[in-house]
Amino acid sequence: MLVLGIESSCDETSAALFDGSRLVHRATTQEVHRAWGGVVPELASRDHERLIIGIIQEVTTSWGADIRDVEGVAATAGPGLVGALLVGLNVGKGIAMGLDVPFLAVNHLEGHLWVHQLKDVIQDSSVAGCPHPEVRGRSASFEPPFLSLVVSGGHTELVRVDDFGEYAILGRTRDDAAGEALDKIGVLFGLDFPAGPEIDRLSKVSDRGAFDFPRGMMHDGLDFSFSGLKTAVRVHLEQDREGVFSRRDDVLNSVQEAVMEVLVAKIARAVGETGVSQVSVSGGVAANSRLRELAEFRAKRDGFTVLFPDRAFCTDNAAMIAWVGRRRLTAGERSGLDAPAQPGWRLESLSPPAFFGVR
Ligand code: KG4
Ligand code: ZN
Repeated sequence: MLVLGIESSCDETSAALFDGSRLVHRATTQEVHRAWGGVVPELASRDHERLIIGIIQEVTTSWGADIRDVEGVAATAGPGLVGALLVGLNVGKGIAMGLDVPFLAVNHLEGHLWVHQLKDVIQDSSVAGCPHPEVRGRSASFEPPFLSLVVSGGHTELVRVDDFGEYAILGRTRDDAAGEALDKIGVLFGLDFPAGPEIDRLSKVSDRGAFDFPRGMMHDGLDFSFSGLKTAVRVHLEQDREGVFSRRDDVLNSVQEAVMEVLVAKIARAVGETGVSQVSVSGGVAANSRLRELAEFRAKRDGFTVLFPDRAFCTDNAAMIAWVGRRRLTAGERSGLDAPAQPGWRLESLSPPAFFGVR
């Protein structure tokens, strides 16, 4: 089944075609938010509307297909910004209705959970127009049970995956998401939004241990908290407005260290508590070099396996939506064309697909 995936939950406009072995994928990060220090919902919706059809046309052209070749449509229905979700969701419904093919409303977080398997299912990697050379070649991934940390600008959730559709939340953030904290702190220092990638880059050439910022809830359960870190950095900045006692890049390096150490500590604690020793990490912050380094070091030391997706699939993308959508569609699951956008759609409300269809 050739499935068109559509993603528009936040500030990434993305489409993908996936038939079980071949993938063509395009994603555009909206530029309109840079000047505002965060995603502006109204601007996101308008930009999705401007970009989405062109991106769908690009993937069909790259595939060498016609839109009429699409046999199923999967679009993100939540969680995310409601106006942004409505754009992709309704374009998806329109295409499904026009072509008279099945439609599926996909949970965005379920996409993140399974993105580490994408590389394994892609056999035809010489796809013309595939912009991600890393997609080429296969790598080991794992089957459930595994733990998954979804860590981005909107989410910080630690999930136990027992099967496809069987998810238990072990911990989540009580305030800011990890990426959100990095982005907001970056704004305090005049960095462009999103600041995470720039903090990552600057931290490679600055002093790692200069400041000891708080590690929120480090030794307390599996929930996360990053607002204390934000406050501590603000106070630090007020006390040294001119940057006399601290170089900006050293401060940002210490911020990154505080965030990544907490993430890795929680992964290790979850492994210890559950006895599940396979962990996948996904979401935009999973692209962070220091997080990868710390997690891999800890995994080796504690005897668990940690897997990061290719960087191109860390951030929001329609490839993961096409992948989980196709898995449910081929199992016979369908959504009505009245399926609503669900800005607060929780992972734990999902269930396995009903297996009455043809695989
Ligand atoms: O998954 P994503 O594209 O969108 C959502 O927020 O759902 O993630 C974007 C987030 C931003 O907060 C961005 O600063 C962060 O991921 N990010 C990074 C890196 N690349 C992206 N944070 C740290 N290091 C990176 N290399
Ligand atoms: Zn996401």
